[in-house]
Amino acid sequence: MLMKNKILVTGGTGYIGSHTVVELQNAGFDVLIVDNLSNSSPDVINGIEKITGKKPELIVADCADITKMDEIFSTQPAIVAIIHFAASKAVGESVEKPLLYYRNNLLSLVNMLELSLKYGIHNFVFSSSCTVYGQPEILPVTESSPIQEATSPYGNTKQIAEEIIRDTVRANSSLKAICLRYFNPIGAHPSALIGELPNGVPNNLVPFITQTAIGLRECLSIFGNDYNTPDGSCIRDYINVVDLAKAHVVAVKRMLDNKNKQMLEFFNIGTGKGLSVLELVHVFEETTGVKPRYKIVGRRAGDIEQIWANASYANNELGWRAEEAITDTLLSAWKWEQALASKK
Ligand code: NAD
Ligand code: WQD
Repeated sequence: MLMKNKILVTGGTGYIGSHTVVELQNAGFDVLIVDNLSNSSPDVINGIEKITGKKPELIVADCADITKMDEIFSTQPAIVAIIHFAASKAVGESVEKPLLYYRNNLLSLVNMLELSLKYGIHNFVFSSSCTVYGQPEILPVTESSPIQEATSPYGNTKQIAEEIIRDTVRANSSLKAICLRYFNPIGAHPSALIGELPNGVPNNLVPFITQTAIGLRECLSIFGNDYNTPDGSCIRDYINVVDLAKAHVVAVKRMLDNKNKQMLEFFNIGTGKGLSVLELVHVFEETTGVKPRYKIVGRRAGDIEQIWANASYANNELGWRAEEAITDTLLSAWKWEQALASKK
């Protein structure tokens, strides 16, 4: 008797995907990862195995390659749900290479949806982003806050992706989908066996802080302290990556247990608290005892001033809540940076 208990995780050797694979395995699911390793390393599989004792299956393939993906799906009858992380996510790169982003992010999504329908997989979780809200007029943002014009091709791929999913669910009564709109994922698994592996110079704040703190970077540039916020620096909702990973397990179970209220649901996955750049740097200093050098420079083009989630719908309806304190989260990021340095 075929045990249908397998979750396909596209982009599963990536930052959020790898942490989600750990939580899926901890929850008793079998996991198949499909990843083209365009922004991750196959070694991640070993880190996952060290944490859970189970080596997830990895097939190296491009989700944008329908022929290859069809072949894979045809040999995987036990898949009951898909968590689709696979995408390119560098905002700045998307401005320089929009077609790469539209092709990779949207063609991959269309393929996954087509194959879900073809192979009778009715549960689909999508990696969306708070970037769809742009700069909200009213804070905190709820799931019904207005979607604003995207400020980058990357952000636009997330908005278009949500519309593709909406239209596909409307046209196929058996398909259930949950879009998780992540705020700012940070930190690493407490084991320091998996974490964020930014390619080259980090775009994101926390890996830049930890790389500066460990001496890989000279100095952190803080992009602006003249915003209309209490200390002038931008405010974000920084969510622990393990907490975020757990939200995916809850979302998959919600659909498998037919607890979803609509066939397409959206949830803000954030802490519900805003933290400024300067506050985050100071928390890092207080928590680790390390003071990364920083200087205030001009604003970064495309940055929004402030955003944080109203996470009450995810808390009350999805039954998920961010648990980790920002201090522990930053400590996990620091431990991970130190672990990377010890491998060099
Ligand atoms: P990541 O780059 O670490 O992981 C993405 C993974 O997908 C990588 O392992 C990459 O090799 C793989 N991949 C990319 N294109 C692929 C393709 N065509 N076929 C197969 N594999 C492919 O990024 P992440 O931070 O883990 O983000 C995962 C998802 O979450 C992305 O969809 C991203 O847009 C979304 N997201 C990320 C953030 C964030 O701040 N990290 C915030 C909101 C949403
Ligand atoms: C956070 C704050 C910067 C780096 C991005 C994407 C978003 C999502 C998450 C994919 C901002 C400031 C940063 C630095 C700094 N990714 N900063 N110096 O921009 O909120 O969101 O990542 O979905 O789509 O836009 O995250 O970490 O880049 O920046 O001062 O070296 O830190 O100005 O205020 P962001 P971030």
